[in-house]
Parts: sequence; structure tokens; C-alpha cells
Amino acid sequence: MKCSLTDKTDCEVLVVCTWEDKKSVGYNKYASKQSFEALIGETRLVTTKGKGSDVLLVGLGEHKDYSLARYLSALELGVRQAGKLNYKHVGVLVMDVPSLSHDQAVARTTEATIITARIYDAYRQETLPEVRKLSRASIIVNKLNAADKQSFKQALVVSEAVNTMRDLQDTPAMELYPASMAAEAKKMAAKYKLKCTILDEKMLAKKKYNTILAVGAGSSRKPRMVTLEYRHPKAKRTICLVGKGVTFDTGGYNLKPTGFMENMKHDMSGSALVFAVLQAVAQLKPKINVVGVLGLAENMISGDAYRPSDIIRTPAGITVEVGNTDAEGRLVLADALFHANTFKPDAIVDFATLTGACVIALGSVCSAILGNDEELVESIIARGHDVGERLWPLPLLEEYEFDLESKIADVKSMGYKREAGTITAAAFLKLFVGKTKWAHLDIAGTAMVERPRHFTEWGGTGWGVRTMVEWLQKL
Ligand code: BES
Ligand code: ZN
Ligand code: ZN
Repeated sequence: MKCSLTDKTDCEVLVVCTWEDKKSVGYNKYASKQSFEALIGETRLVTTKGKGSDVLLVGLGEHKDYSLARYLSALELGVRQAGKLNYKHVGVLVMDVPSLSHDQAVARTTEATIITARIYDAYRQETLPEVRKLSRASIIVNKLNAADKQSFKQALVVSEAVNTMRDLQDTPAMELYPASMAAEAKKMAAKYKLKCTILDEKMLAKKKYNTILAVGAGSSRKPRMVTLEYRHPKAKRTICLVGKGVTFDTGGYNLKPTGFMENMKHDMSGSALVFAVLQAVAQLKPKINVVGVLGLAENMISGDAYRPSDIIRTPAGITVEVGNTDAEGRLVLADALFHANTFKPDAIVDFATLTGACVIALGSVCSAILGNDEELVESIIARGHDVGERLWPLPLLEEYEFDLESKIADVKSMGYKREAGTITAAAFLKLFVGKTKWAHLDIAGTAMVERPRHFTEWGGTGWGVRTMVEWLQKL
């Protein structure tokens, strides 16, 4: 879709958000005529019969001090509706969002528009008639200024990266497996001049990366560990981003039941997030070094697959008793985190669709965040808040670490029954980050959706890319 920033309303339909007390909205002439109440989720199309563009009003609810989250949901609704009403060229009016500067509002509006308008039809002969494609978007401001233009340009790069993450997420596992995702990373790296290193199963074995190898042992498509390196000549700090890339999670011999396996092609979302952030960073060029580590494996069943009760020797020297073959993400991450530390980073942030417990606790609204450094965790939460992606902290208390006790090995890969599943998983990861500052984001609930949220009707959401690019740029 073509997207431009403009001060003209030369579009077919103009999406206008408005609140219940609409006094200060220039478009309230339409609203009052249409008895439009501007409730949250309410929309109203006002046609002008060829005299200027039509107007699609979207309700923001009760108060003028609406939140960014509410603004973004309203935009999502409006842009999607415009597509379904068969318009090709949508205009979106940038609002003065309380708590945002104008150029920030431009960026958020642009992202919401492009991400919502993306339609995944790579596997269809024809796009379904009820899923109309918008071909053009105009982001509309009263007066163009330099700060807005700059902000808009960045938002284009970030939105494209979000949609890249979603394309990777939505690709079926029969086409996206460790080696093919590594090849995609290599292609992207060549295009944007990043250094890309791929460790195959032989090199992984040489480095004693036995936990990622154990997870991938049951699949004929063997694990890969990919590093993507962005370096700035004046960088003073190095940040490592680590992603869980289980390209399909059957659960292994602790097989997932029907109803829990169908969306497990999305279990590589953490690594797709890291991939996409590196793609954006390579274009935006912040003054830091960023190293992405993608831990890629497919969790399948065969005569070669690992079993519950297996004991794996890690390069850190820690022996791990496999409590459940479905707790595979933390094993992939154990080696990936260890590998990340070899780059001597100032901080590590990892991303994983790690636990069902996270979905139960927080649903699809926000991701869980845990770590060993409060300042790091708080700074990521803050940037998430700025861009409208929400994170909620969970307590990584020492007591939870005791739950990983094994009778036969140094640690067990899981805690006691289902108790505090998201926290015990993080406690396990903590064993492999050493003294490095570290934050862990469990994106199990936010990475993919079955009903509209995060600018997505269904499938991969690209959640997290916007927060992390913002965070890296503001470091
Ligand atoms: N990939 C799943 C977690 C998941 C579940 C992500 C639902 C997205 C939606 C992960 O590998 C898993 O199965 N974890 C187990 C761990 C348990 C066996 C300790 C879980 O959460 O049940
Ligand atoms: Zn699993
Ligand atoms: Zn998994």
C-alpha cells in the first residue's frame, strides 16, 4: 500500500475519530446530523455523494482525555471498515492525542493505518471479496512541518518491519522451518547490509549447544542459530536481542492435544520479532550496536526425538532434566542466551511465546515482562507505553527458582505442576544469562490473535517491534 503524509483531504473516505463531547471537532457537523454518539466501537459513514470525500466517523468514547490505546483501537476499526466498504484510498486524520506530541501522533497514526491495512493473501488465488484491499493511504495533518515528516518516515520503516514479522509468523511451518528462516535472515541481511552468521547442526554440536539440538532432534529439519549484527561506528553500547524460534511446536512426546497445536506455527514469533527489529534498525541507524540471536528448532516426534527425563549438558556446565518436552522454548533459549553472552552485551532482551500460563494470566492485551534489572524492565515498559504496546511485570522472586529443583540433575526444566508457569520459565532462563542485565518478554498472548486486536483480525500481530525499535532509538 502506498502511504503519504499530506495536508490535503484528497481521498475517497476520511477516517475521523471523535469523542462524545465533540465540541472541538471540526467534523461535528456530520456527527450531530447523524445522531452519532461516538461511543467506543461506534462507527458512522457519512457520504457526500461525490462532493468531496466521504467521512467515516469512529467513536472514542466518553472523555476528551482518551488514552493512546483507545485512539489506536478507533483507528484500527476505522481503517478496517474503510477497506470493507470497498474504498481504495483512505485518508486518516491525525488527532491531538492527549499525552503525545504532534509528531508522535503522526507516527502512531501512520503505524496503525499501515499495519491494519495489511492483508495476508500469499496463499490465495484471489483475495476474498469481503477482504478488500486498500491501495492508498493519506495521513492527514493541518500543516506539514519537518518534525512530522521525519516521524512519518520512521513510522514507514517500522510499519514495514511489523508487517515483515507478521509475514514470517503467518507462513505455514511446512515452508518456514529452521533452515528456511535462516535463509530469509541471510537475504534480509544482504539487502540491509547486516552481518549474518548461521550455525547449522554440526556447528551447534561443536559448541555443545545441546539443548537446542535436543529440541530439534525429532525433526528431519535440523536446528539453526542465526546471528544478525548491526554495528554503528560510534556505538558505546551493545544490546543483544534473543528470540525463540520454534517453527512448529507439537509438544514432542508430551504431545499437545487438538485445539492447542493448531496455532503453533506461530511459536517462532520471538525470533521473527528480533528479525524485524534488526531490519528496522539497519535502516534507522541508531548509535548503538544491536546483535540479534535467533534460536530456531522444530519440536517434532520421531525415533530421534528427546524424551521427558532426558538430561542435557549445557555449555554453561549446567545439567538440565527435561521435565516435559513441551517446555521446549526455554531449552532453545538457554543456548541462545548463552550464545548472546559471548558478544559481551551491556544488556540482553529476549522474546518468546513461552508459556500458556501467560495467556491465562494476561490474555492478549499485554505481554509479561520479567528480568534481573528493574531499570531495564521499567525502560522497556515505558517505551511500550509510548507506542501503545502494553507490558505488565511479574515478580521473578528467588523462591520461584527453588521450584526448578531436580532430584537427578542440577535443575529441572520446569517448576512444580502448573504453578506460576510464566515465572518459573523465566527463572529457568535466568540461569543462562549470568550477570548480564536481562529482560524477558513472554509474548504468548500478544503475538497472535483469533479476534481483532493489535491491528490484526487474526494471525500474527507483529507485537513488540514498535516498542523495541523505540526503545533502541531512545537508549
Ligand atoms: N509454545 C508453548 C506456549 C504457548 C501456549 C504459546 C499457547 C502460545 C500459546 C510452550 O512451548 C509450551 O507448550 N509451554 C508449556 C510449558 C509447560 C509444559 C511447563 C505450557 O505453557 O503449557
Ligand atoms: Zn511447547
Ligand atoms: Zn513452544
